[in-house]
Parts: sequence; structure tokens; C-alpha cells
Amino acid sequence: MKKSKFVVEGLAGQKKLAGRIRVGGAKNAVLKALAASVLFDDAVTLDNVPEIEDVARMKELLVAAGAQVEGNTVVPPSEWDPSLDQSIAGKLRASIVMTGPMLARMGRVCFPLPGGDVIGDRPIDLFVAGFRAMGATVEIDDHQYTVIAPEGGLQGADIFFPFVSVTATETLMMCAILAHGTTTLGNAAIEPEIIALAEYLASCGAKITGIGTPTLYIEGLGRGKLLHAEGQVFMTPPDRIETGSFVLFGALAGAEVVVEHCNPKHVEAFLQLMKQAGVDFTVGPDSITVRGKSTPYQAVSVRTHEYPGFATDTQAPMAVFLSQCDGESTILETIFDGRFRYADDLVRMGADILVMNPHKILIRGSRALVGRDMESLDIRAGLAYLLAATVAEGTSNIDNAYIIDRGYEHIEQRLQGLGLNIQRVEEE
Ligand code: UD1
Repeated sequence: MKKSKFVVEGLAGQKKLAGRIRVGGAKNAVLKALAASVLFDDAVTLDNVPEIEDVARMKELLVAAGAQVEGNTVVPPSEWDPSLDQSIAGKLRASIVMTGPMLARMGRVCFPLPGGDVIGDRPIDLFVAGFRAMGATVEIDDHQYTVIAPEGGLQGADIFFPFVSVTATETLMMCAILAHGTTTLGNAAIEPEIIALAEYLASCGAKITGIGTPTLYIEGLGRGKLLHAEGQVFMTPPDRIETGSFVLFGALAGAEVVVEHCNPKHVEAFLQLMKQAGVDFTVGPDSITVRGKSTPYQAVSVRTHEYPGFATDTQAPMAVFLSQCDGESTILETIFDGRFRYADDLVRMGADILVMNPHKILIRGSRALVGRDMESLDIRAGLAYLLAATVAEGTSNIDNAYIIDRGYEHIEQRLQGLGLNIQRVEEE
């Protein structure tokens, strides 16, 4: 595959973008719904699916395990191959979510330590502890995990997560659906994507209560039983990370930008901060209209948190926003360490950012940014670079467009629709 880069002509702080930008389906919902197809005896169809690279990889993973994938419909095989494809799973963090349904359905699963963005340590100890609590044995050999359910199938268990994990909640919830007996998941994550998944599974025969609360109760159907979609379609909720990022484009570079097809209720913590910083926006039932201001915004303090707090996936573009605010802002990153790698590049563009420790940065603003050449580090940092390049004076080249394509569908076309001069250029 040819490498490509994005070339952005910066607006030098002018607020010129105008029009409507559509938010796509949530990456972190659709990937899990694809993994859930392992629990079904019939075809699972998904709607509002973003055309992003991670979705393509997840479909490849399903095909490698025996499924047929036609468009956004997954037709399960009668027997899945429980050894997940090493090369795909090794690159995709969300592949870990397939281990739960696969173990529950096939009685075993083999997988490599999952890959994904390098945004700090991403261990899988919670998954391993959960599988063991349900009676499985877990062997680790040369970075390869083999998990085997007991003879009669997995047993429901009381599992309390010592800290909140999105993917561990999803994985063990799906595992428990085909176990024997009841599973309780305490201190579970309550992200909207998990709620959408749980509600869909419940509508297809899973017995889950407590959906949307930190305690999930799953009454297992027992091994050998399966879920039935019977034509019910999984409707992917709008991506709340895109929603926040597009609001930031509107605030920093927009005359009037309408962020549409979103759910403003999913970004309340973010919108509170926008209000505090002085951003002029109005909220509709499924849209947010942002009008950029010519005077700088006010510095605010950000603390990333599990949902409903401020999403860690929005913190990199938020740092760009804060570089354009008057005064001293801080970001406290409570979920991951190593998620400030983008700071160096923003500093080279003219931002004043001090990395105080792996969890905290101090940003002084506002500072004018100058375009430069950068390489996307991870999905969210890549988007932050696009935002910084839009605000900056001059041209920026953002290499490794693939990283941004992993999470954002046709981003250049959508930003062009607002009037931004951004091109995708193939590299030699
Ligand atoms: C998911 C999202 C990611 C988002 C993150 C936090 C997907 C595919 N990715 O990532 O976009 O940034 O939630 O909202 O949905 N942890 C452990 N042991 C484990 C599991 C997690 O120590 O077994 C730690 C992680 O290192 C991290 C914290 O728990 O510090 C939260 O991780 P988790 O919620 O699981 O995030 P991811 O699944 O990696």
C-alpha cells in the first residue's frame, strides 16, 4: 500500500471555516459489535458504519476466523477458528474484545498480545483475571495467550474491576452471555458505546441487567446456546470523539460550523469546558453549532476521566485548543501515561507546553502557531496535528495519513466541505 500524507494550508488564526460537518459512527462501538457476531447463530448487520481502517482490519480478523463478511453484514460459520490471526490482532487493540465471545463460544481462544496505538502501557491483566474467575486456564507462551474453558463451559463469577476498563467490561460481558450461571461485573465502564452494545445483545436474547450502571448482571445462557439477530440491525451511535474534535475546529477556525448527526448528551463534560473557555455554541437535538470568536478564549483545567467525564481521546486536540486560550491551562491525564508525545511537535509549531510529568502538562497561551512537517503518532494525536495545522500560518505536511484513516473516515473530504485547503498526497 502506498503511503500518503495530508497537506494543509493553515488559516493563520482566521475563522473562515463554514458549513456542516457530519459525525460518523463511533469506532469504539462498531468494532465491538463486529466482535459480538461470534455470539450469534445468524447474520449480524450493522448500520452507520464508518469506513475506517480499523473496521476493515476487524472484518479481516473475522474472515480469518471463518466468517463471511458482505458489506456490513457478518455471516457466522458453524465452527469458528479460535486462533486469532496473529498479524491482524497484533496491530489492533480492539481485537482483544473478540477473545471473550470466542472463548465462550468455542471453549478456547489463542491470541497475541494485542497492538494498537502506543499511548502508554496497555496491559490485559483484567481480562486474564476475569477468564480465570470464570474457570478458564490461561497459558502465556512467548507473547501468545491460550485460554481454555473448563469441560462443561465457563462458569458465571463475581468480578469486581479494581479500576474501570472499557474493553475489559465489554469482553467479560460478552463472555458471560454464554457462560453457566450469573456473572456480576462491578465497577464496570458505562461508555455510551458499551450501552449500545449491551442493549443490542439484550434485544437478541442476552440476559443483561444494570445496563448503563457500574454494575452489570449477566445471566448466562450456557454453552451451546447462541444469540439470534433475526434481522435486527445494530445502529452504531455517533462518534463522540469526532464530535468534540469537530467542535474544536469550529471554535478555532470556524465562522459558523454545524457539527451534525451527533449526540450532544455524550459530550457534556467537554461542552462544559467549552462554555467555561468562552466558546459560542448552541446545542440542538443532534447537532452543535459553533461560532468562532476573534478574541482569544480563556484558559481552563482539564482532567481526563472515564465516561461521563472528559474523554482521554479528546485530550490531544484539546491541547491545541488550549494553546490558543489566554492564560495557563493544565491537562491531567488520568487514564494513560505516555499520552503527551504530541507535545514536542506542537511546541515546534510555537505552542508553549511544559510536560510536567507523564500525567500532566501546562499550556500557556495564546501563542501563534506556524505550519511544519509532522508524522502522526496515534489516531488522536494525528487529528490534533490536523487541527494545529488548520490554525497555523503556512503549510503543514502530516505524514502517515494511515494512522488518521484508522479512526476518521475521509477526513480530508469532510474538512474540505468546510472550506479548508487540505489535500491527500501519495508519497513515493
Ligand atoms: C479504550 C478505547 C480507547 C480509549 C480508552 C479509554 C477501544 C478500542 N479503545 O481503550 O480509545 O482511549 O478505552 O476510554 O475501545 N488496563 C489495565 N489492564 C487491563 C485493561 C486496562 O491496566 O487489563 C488499564 C489501561 O492501561 C488504562 C486503563 O486501564 O490505563 C483504561 O484502559 P481501557 O479502558 O481498557 O482502555 P482501552 O481498552 O485500551
